[in-house]
This record gives sequence, C-alpha cells and structure tokens, in this order.
Amino acid sequence: MKLVKLIANLGYGSRTEVAAMFREGRITAPDGDVLYADDKIEHAHIRIDGEPLDPPAGIVLMLHKPTGVTCATRDAGRIVYDLLPPRYRLRNPSLSSVGRLDRETSGLLLFTDNGALLHRIISPRAQIAKVYEATLAQDLHGDEGATFASGTLMLESEKTPLAPAVLTVLGPRKAQIGVSEGRYHQVRRMFAAVGNHVETLHRVSAGGLTLGDLPAGEWRALGAMDVARIFSAGS
Ligand code: URA
Repeated sequence: MKLVKLIANLGYGSRTEVAAMFREGRITAPDGDVLYADDKIEHAHIRIDGEPLDPPAGIVLMLHKPTGVTCATRDAGRIVYDLLPPRYRLRNPSLSSVGRLDRETSGLLLFTDNGALLHRIISPRAQIAKVYEATLAQDLHGDEGATFASGTLMLESEKTPLAPAVLTVLGPRKAQIGVSEGRYHQVRRMFAAVGNHVETLHRVSAGGLTLGDLPAGEWRALGAMDVARIFSAGS
C-alpha cells in the first residue's frame, strides 16, 4: 500500500492532506530522512513530526466505560469515542465497539477494527461469559440463581428462553452474574423478571480478560495475549 494511503487510513487526514504533509517534509524515517508518498517502508519505520505512527490495522482496545456515556457514533451527549484519541474515529477500517453497554452501565468495553474478530467475540457460539456486578433495589430472595441457571427464563417479548446464566451472591443486594449472550438490556431485564431492579451495573470481565485496575474513562491497547484471554474461560 502506498504510504499516503496507509497514513490516511490511520486517520491522519484525507489523502490530499497527507500528500501535503509529505510535501512539507513532516513524514520521515527514524533518522529524520524525509519520506515520499511512493516509498515502500515498514509501518514501524515511519515518523510523523518525529512521532511513531498509531498502530496499524488490527487493533483491539479495552475501555473502562464510565456511566453517562453512550455506545454510539453520534448522540446529543457524550459518546464512548470521545474517550479515545480523535484520530481513532477516522480510521479505515473503522473501529467499532464489540457489542454495547447501556448508557448507565460501566465497565469493560472492547473495540476493534477487525470485523472477523468482532464476530468471533459476539457470536453466541463462542459462549464467552461476560461477568457483571449488579447492585439491586431489593434484597435477593435466594431462588434467583436457580431461575437464571435453568435455561428456561423467558424475557418479555422474546421468542426463545435465555441460555443458563451463573449468579454469585455477594451481599443481600449485590450479585455477580455471568451471561454468555448479549440480548438487549439483558441483565436489567433478567432481574426485572424476578421482581427486582438493577440500580448499578458494571462489567468486570469478558471471558478470561478482566478490566483490572484500569481507571474509569481510560483505555489501553490489547496485545495478542490479552486477546487470547477473551477466548479462555474466566476464573
Ligand atoms: N445487560 C444490561 O442490562 N445492560 C448492559 O449494559 C449490559 C448487559
């Protein structure tokens, strides 16, 4: 791929704008030698204004989504893309969130520009457990775990029952729940179906990948080992 296209695809500007950056001598090798739009040179050996390029296509990011931020590309309020570097919204292939979290749900949210990987993660066949911590408006009765594990719970206006989900009680009004599907407002609707109400919801892990101590609003790029963890069983 021509350098001009490679750099434009990373969101640094249109091809015309990137061509102008070449003419201005802003695109160089690590030793400062000016590069030209037709040069063939590896991604790692390109500098713009002396800085290494953003990562090439195939990126996977993990964001600690705070509450009050929408998983959408456009919204009147704050959106998850506002928390990523502005250039990342202009990349081609584009960066998409892997599924969604509700505006008032916080926690682990993945992004990738790799469509095949995205589909592998969200495919119900992959059976990747997403674990959430929920605080509830009312005390748990004690039978919710069995109901969620049964594989027979039907949510309103759904045609098929939910796959079994694992409930771990953490306190009278606090529980962890592991689900392998990603239905609309699934966890909130599950607790509503057993007569409760979710007050706060936070996703702590996807497969064996945990949010860890990543602060709210921050993101980090995932390496191959992290990505492999998504497909390994959680603890
Ligand atoms: N279930 C929900 O109800 N909301 C989310 O954001 C994620 C899972």
